[in-house]
Amino acid sequence: MQPKMILALGFSGICVAGCATRPSDSEAEGAVAEMIKASFKTRGQAAIDRLKQDDAQALCSRHSGELPKGASEEIEKAQQATLRYPSSGKLMGDWREGERIAQSGGGKQFTDDPARPAGGSCYNCHQISKQELSFGTIGPSLYQFGKLRGASEAIQKYTYGKIYNSEASTACSNMPRFGYNGVLTEEQITHLVALLLDPESPVNK
Ligand code: HEC
Repeated sequence: MQPKMILALGFSGICVAGCATRPSDSEAEGAVAEMIKASFKTRGQAAIDRLKQDDAQALCSRHSGELPKGASEEIEKAQQATLRYPSSGKLMGDWREGERIAQSGGGKQFTDDPARPAGGSCYNCHQISKQELSFGTIGPSLYQFGKLRGASEAIQKYTYGKIYNSEASTACSNMPRFGYNGVLTEEQITHLVALLLDPESPVNK
């Protein structure tokens, strides 16, 4: 028998068994959540409690892209309330440190030393500089970010806030909430702000 035919027969079998007693949406959601939970194990610092979604995340998952009217504004307002700025008031650190953090994908995995600071994996989703050989494109290119926007206090605050909690300005963003979730420290975030805004950083060359 052709592999394609076997596949087709397999699918029709699923339908015969499944279509007669179709589960409700909430039953299906519950079953999927259980299945996901059962396929992960806590290993060191990579604990299973990471699967627990907060209210904003749960809302984004439930509506996958199409939020009910007014929900985006509500999520952004609630997430804005989580923003914590450094007590020093200084939002720009050292771009060299920022570059190391942006290009590091280490941290928070069970194989990583929990005592060592995590990286930001920014390169996984963004172009950062011209020298990079490879980068991801889930997020917009950040090349020349500061050159195009300047480094005013408002831009510094926006950039810090975006990295601290991306959903404070974009509900259901695909960008991790680095400060809010305790992946990066406030100081690390100030280094990343410098990477993006300092005129001397390779981002702005
Ligand atoms: C998993 C992918 C992903 C990772 C990792 C990621 N980002 Fe993002 N980022 C996005 C997406 C998607 C957007 C667009 C949506 C938004 O603005 O939240 C974005 C937007 C941004 C913006 C706003 C851009 C603009 O034009 O206003 C900045 C700044 C930014 N990211 C910086 C960073 C930094 C710094 C890091 C590393 C600490 C990082 N991102 C890691 C996906 C990611």
